[in-house]
Amino acid sequence: MDNRPIGVFDSGLGGLTVLKEINKYLPNEDTVYFGDTARVPYGPRSKETIIKYTFQAINFLISKNVKAIVIACNTATARALLESQEKYDVPIIGVIEAGARTAVYSTKNKVIGVIGTSGTINSRAYNKEIKKIGKDVTVIGKACPLFVPLVEEGWANKEISSTAAHMYLDELVNKGVDSIVLGCTHYPILKRTIGEAVGADVKLINPAKETALDLKSMLEERFLMSNSTEEGKYKYYVSDINEQFSRIASEFLKREIKDLEKVEIHKY
Ligand code: DGL
Repeated sequence: MDNRPIGVFDSGLGGLTVLKEINKYLPNEDTVYFGDTARVPYGPRSKETIIKYTFQAINFLISKNVKAIVIACNTATARALLESQEKYDVPIIGVIEAGARTAVYSTKNKVIGVIGTSGTINSRAYNKEIKKIGKDVTVIGKACPLFVPLVEEGWANKEISSTAAHMYLDELVNKGVDSIVLGCTHYPILKRTIGEAVGADVKLINPAKETALDLKSMLEERFLMSNSTEEGKYKYYVSDINEQFSRIASEFLKREIKDLEKVEIHKY
């Protein structure tokens, strides 16, 4: 039993899609969220830079006395999960294994599309994970670099996002994918727009639920579950306070985000 909080981080708002599932499946756990809003997007950055940013986020979360960390960012999972697990004693999980597993179970025709940032797609991390469990599956990756700025701008349901979705995704639909992994934690915020662009026959896979369930199993195995019977306490930190974060986060999580605190992340 361990009543310390769980740390969750992303480059910005995206990790909230994972936090929402963690709060749903682990309702009595306290969580500390960090969004690196001063340095979003991570997608186009080098592996070296992503590792540096990830270590700083982990150092910050450890300073908040977390008992486990979820890298709620596909780019940071692809580029820095293994390095982080090697460096730190605190248990750390990412989102890609869970997403790959969900996609392999979902596909019927064994043609899976994966969309994400350039960093995630170029790393081929999803291809590797999917091939481990579904050897006969074809994986077609597509980087969609405009999606993250559209979400951070609060334009997820505007016409401009729908145009971008068609430009990126028509190609995947024409190649016959029956499932598309939302391989960036920002993308579930665009789910409606993406769903309308690809049509109802294509299943959209959000790795967040499976990640939350993986986290739950990991906490149980290590006897790290909280024994509190009260609703978890939620704390939010960002590296730059902007007006959108609280508004979009409150809308998405359907609860008011109060007491957003700024962190000088480069000091960690
Ligand atoms: N939400 C992140 C991901 O899952 C990062 C997006 C970005 O900062 O480019 O990849």
